Amino acid sequence: MNIDLGAPPAPQTQARTHKLWGGRFGAGPTPEFDALNNSIGVDFRLWPYDIRLSQAWAVALWGAGVLTLEESKAIETGLETVAVRLQGGEQPQASDEDVHTLIDRLLHEEIGDVASKLHTGRSRNDQVSTAARLWTIDVCQQLDSALRGLQRTMLEQASGLEAALMPSYTHLQRAIPVSAAHWLLSHFWPLERDRARLRAAHRSAAVLPLGSGAVAGCAYPISRILIQGTLGFDALSPNSIDAVSDRDFIAEVLFAATMIGTHLSRLAEDLIIYGSSEFGFVQFGEGYTSGSSMMPQKRNPDALELARGSAARMLGNLTTLLATLKGLPSSYNKDLQDDKRVLFDATDTLLLVLPAVSGALAECTFRPERMRAALSSSMMATDLADYLVRKGATFREAHGAVGRLVRESESTGQEMQTLPFSSFTAAHPRFSEDVYEALSAERSVTHREVEGGTGPTAVRAQLEAAQAALAPPPTPRSTNTIP
Ligand code: ARG
Repeated sequence: MNIDLGAPPAPQTQARTHKLWGGRFGAGPTPEFDALNNSIGVDFRLWPYDIRLSQAWAVALWGAGVLTLEESKAIETGLETVAVRLQGGEQPQASDEDVHTLIDRLLHEEIGDVASKLHTGRSRNDQVSTAARLWTIDVCQQLDSALRGLQRTMLEQASGLEAALMPSYTHLQRAIPVSAAHWLLSHFWPLERDRARLRAAHRSAAVLPLGSGAVAGCAYPISRILIQGTLGFDALSPNSIDAVSDRDFIAEVLFAATMIGTHLSRLAEDLIIYGSSEFGFVQFGEGYTSGSSMMPQKRNPDALELARGSAARMLGNLTTLLATLKGLPSSYNKDLQDDKRVLFDATDTLLLVLPAVSGALAECTFRPERMRAALSSSMMATDLADYLVRKGATFREAHGAVGRLVRESESTGQEMQTLPFSSFTAAHPRFSEDVYEALSAERSVTHREVEGGTGPTAVRAQLEAAQAALAPPPTPRSTNTIP
């Protein structure tokens, strides 16, 4: 039996029929070189963007007087037909070096020799960067909407949890009671910052390199500004040497992706801990969990664990790119071909993980009774100290007195609210009978109405702010249309 272990494809031995280079070479490249050098397996997906930029380039060449109108139109419609073929499922041949070569070959098949004029004045160096930037702009938008989907799920769950009180933790030790909505929203805002990072990465990507040629700029009087407008870029790259090697936009997307991965990982980790029998704050659903092949009772939060694990890959992708960039000499070097592997891996992974985390969260059932059972009166120790401060003690003095009470409750195995009043007065003379009210979790929460705190009004305001953050932005008024 033959089992495909996914080994790299055997080097192609067949004769290559189409190349964008080769005149100065006597012998052709070896199959081993082709197997290493060909990037079609990775960059094929850039074809819609390469078609678009090539159409814009054909028009620019006509504008520069390089192509006649007929030639430019023939190339434009030829590219349209190539797009239809690719859309219809046409696959590259193993001998196609990369997506640019593939499209060039198909264009030749469609319109013959005039196709050879399209590559005038441009290089794959400015071409691949332009295509990758167009792709990145789209993926930033897709990631944004996937993030918003998860944020919406968080809001839906959070609005049912406003009144549910649970322990907050620092050092994973019980700290102070909080509203469960407050806890869940603590995972909303990091994603909001991630969206801002994606917008910044989008802005970095929206700088047009086309017209930079291989490194020194195009030698024909093409209008870059026209290409910018046609392709929807925000600006022109100001230096051709920089333009062909600038991959900052990919590094920025990868950093944003790594932060998203990190944030999802932390959310997943909280949910996994809270879903354990020991905590029991959360019950997982059935759509995003799996069973065990051995232990019939198990329901494992696999989607969340995979989300947590995938953050490591994002980080690996980011460091791979940065390590590649740091040692490169000026301008384009072939090392840069691998930028797309990491870009695609990180964004593909996130586009799988984000909906899964959103689904897993949506089907979680929160259990307020288990949360409440985890609240103990020692968690109101800070409130007790604040009580003494309000009665005129200094905070340090109050901290010491409450510490003694905590020790007493620990050593006698009693909750603080069951300690006799005499214990309180022994700890500090400013305690009076109303001290027992200060030991209620509700009281503790309602005292924290500061902006960003866990008080009910503050949490309500936070929920409203979160809703507002997700409201669609007002549609910008077009400058081209007359009102
Ligand atoms: N496939 C190449 C890449 O992704 C295209 C650019 C090739 N440039 C060159 N000078 N060989 O980077």
